[in-house]
Amino acid sequence: MDEAVHKSPDFVFHQEMPPNGGPSLNRLVEEFITPETDFFLRTHGNIPQLASPTHRLTIGGLVSRPCQFSLEELFERFPTREITATLQCAGNRRSGASAFKQVPNEVDWGNEAISNAVWKGCSLADVIHSVGYVDGAKHLEFIGSDICQKEGVQTQFGGSIPLERALVDDVLLAWGMNGQPLTLQHGAPLRAIVPGYIGARSVKWLQRINLLNAPSTNLFHAHAYRLFSPAASSSDANWEQALELGELSVNSCICSIEEVSDGLLIKGYATAGGSRCAVRVEIGYSEPLKWIEASFQDPAQTGSWRRWRTLIPKLLVGELICVRAWDSAANTQPEDPENVWNFKGYMNNAWHRVRFGMPFQDVLMAKPEVEFYL
Ligand code: MTE
Repeated sequence: MDEAVHKSPDFVFHQEMPPNGGPSLNRLVEEFITPETDFFLRTHGNIPQLASPTHRLTIGGLVSRPCQFSLEELFERFPTREITATLQCAGNRRSGASAFKQVPNEVDWGNEAISNAVWKGCSLADVIHSVGYVDGAKHLEFIGSDICQKEGVQTQFGGSIPLERALVDDVLLAWGMNGQPLTLQHGAPLRAIVPGYIGARSVKWLQRINLLNAPSTNLFHAHAYRLFSPAASSSDANWEQALELGELSVNSCICSIEEVSDGLLIKGYATAGGSRCAVRVEIGYSEPLKWIEASFQDPAQTGSWRRWRTLIPKLLVGELICVRAWDSAANTQPEDPENVWNFKGYMNNAWHRVRFGMPFQDVLMAKPEVEFYL
């Protein structure tokens, strides 16, 4: 294990090199703000040992004045901001997708590739306005300092977001997390935080920002984090035509089921993408399903998850429990993973279904034949 990795004793690693893992589900929803030692970890390469005093952020491409900033300069020249933002990997809930059909060669995340923190830094918008940009600048690319092996080549991790999104003041260049300096494992000395977007765009160990007239050609943007239809396979994948991932979709998960005196206490989280919020969560139980609305523990806040809980009657072992959420644009989750399955296993937001008293795995439903009458 890389010596920069410091996690709670019950943190579950899917992989040690590079380190990838998350907290146990019970622990995940214990607190609104995830402690740093429980915060899920997603790395594709090494953890660079960058020293804050000598580190420089280079800004180039279609800018009026290409330049470099030390951390001290960022700190002194731009107002400091703090935001609460949830990071969620596009691969969160992949194991639910692979329960329907195998997703080879990817980290088999359960529902734990998500966490929430308070980030401190400066607004990327302030920095970009200070360097100016020229006509034609449409995308903003982040490049990290880590070296990753991908498709037989060594490459730095990177990706871009539309410039329009980058200029909203909640996108941060962050040096602090939960009231402490950012740790190496989470991107020190400097990382991007892009609320409401897939975690991959919140680039850690930030070394360079480029303004571009087209989306990034970095392998982690052009040949990963793209969405294919359920019919596409890795052998016939047309990466240029696949949908570039950006904003997250509405999602919700069951994280714990506790037997209490008057029933079962069900707890979990719900998220939404872009500037949307999760606004309704329903728990279904037994078959045929009876639905009950859960109550939120956290306020509706753009960019941040909402934990929820509800009490349902006692069930027999093996009975079904499922969850679905709605966001503030009235989007809801698809019922089955087969509708969203793709060979990379990204963005699985099908209803999360488990069976009471059984291993906490996604359940697939046998569907009756649909009959059509003319
Ligand atoms: N940035 C760099 N430089 N290298 C990476 O491997 N992983 C990305 C993103 N930023 C990554 C990165 C992905 S896929 C996710 S989900 C988030 O970081 C995870 O952030 P965390 O490890 O702080 O939880």
